[in-house]
Amino acid sequence: MAASIMEHGEDAFRKLFKFYKRRKPPPDFSDVIDFSKGLSSGKVVSTELSPTAVSENDARLAGLQPVQEWKAFGLKGYPGFIFISNPFLPGTQQHWVKQCLKVFPRKPNVCNLDMHMSASETEHIWEDSAERMRSKSSGKREPKTLLEKLRWVTLGYHYNWDTKTYSAEQHTLFPADLHTLSKHVAAACSFPAFTAEAGILNYYRSDSSLGIHVDESELDHSRPLLSFSFGQSAVFLLGGAKREDPGTPMFMHSGDIMVMSGPSRLLYHAVPCIMAAPPEAPMPPALLRGLDQDTPTDCLAQSVKEEDWAVCARYIQTSRINMTVRQVLAPGQGFPSVTQKRTESADTGTYHELEPAEAEDSNPKKRRNGSDSSES
Ligand code: OGA
Ligand code: MN
Repeated sequence: MAASIMEHGEDAFRKLFKFYKRRKPPPDFSDVIDFSKGLSSGKVVSTELSPTAVSENDARLAGLQPVQEWKAFGLKGYPGFIFISNPFLPGTQQHWVKQCLKVFPRKPNVCNLDMHMSASETEHIWEDSAERMRSKSSGKREPKTLLEKLRWVTLGYHYNWDTKTYSAEQHTLFPADLHTLSKHVAAACSFPAFTAEAGILNYYRSDSSLGIHVDESELDHSRPLLSFSFGQSAVFLLGGAKREDPGTPMFMHSGDIMVMSGPSRLLYHAVPCIMAAPPEAPMPPALLRGLDQDTPTDCLAQSVKEEDWAVCARYIQTSRINMTVRQVLAPGQGFPSVTQKRTESADTGTYHELEPAEAEDSNPKKRRNGSDSSES
């Protein structure tokens, strides 16, 4: 391996990850691509979507702008990677934040808290947290609510972090609204047959990060991986097909959608840091407003009750939520038998490469979005 790549035993991508993860002193973010500023970097190109793949009415009912108005970009050197800069209709993002905090963590969906708590204890995460979240005084240190301890939720085919597989047995109904949203986004990106079968929701507090990994456990890699960001901005690192390949940093803001498809479907990536919001404007502008009066009553983004939004607002002022949606199986495909899986697993490698401190920690709750506090 070239000496330039393995300086001090550390490859280029890992160095980049550590660079943006650093807090004191904070890193220089001037090389981070900001798609909200359009073609701001020589690496950014415009991408044509398929505007006729989703009717204007279907887009509106899903809380999205007409596809021909979406600002979609590609990155030189990353064919199949598509970045859509917030295509949501004003006010509709609040729905997704509320779903991720109040609805999607409910049973039968699975979350990190289930790994060390009983089903009855994790049955009412929202109800057990809402009142205390509303009344929290910002300065005082108080015990964390369950909502604040939430790190991931799985939907549809529930990802098994131990075996790094999906299975027919661990499956529940995929949420209809997220299914519809995903179908339209995939269709606009020329994947009309995409079926949302599995979801991993990631909950990031201000000190969280997501280690370097590839999403390869899905059995059909010809289908894209969709990723939706809400709340505080984050830095996303897109790497190469090999772990040590160099990477490209970019901001993800509230409402941004990323599509990893084709040759970019199996690239290494990571989220080294969540950006701190300016204290005078803790709420991303896209989340400040509710739905327009003329929103159709059958729009899947419904208006969020004031008392619910009070809790969501408290949470999201210091957090980021990411919804990733995956198709697991090709049409007509089934899961391999157990014996097949055993022989294959010997060389499939790890699904989520973790930071050393997290990897050493056998506690499954820390496998995702580990915070600085878990590292020495
Ligand atoms: C994932 C993932 C990135 C993000 O869930 O696999 O890479 O933006 N998420 O949080
Ligand atoms: Mn991923």
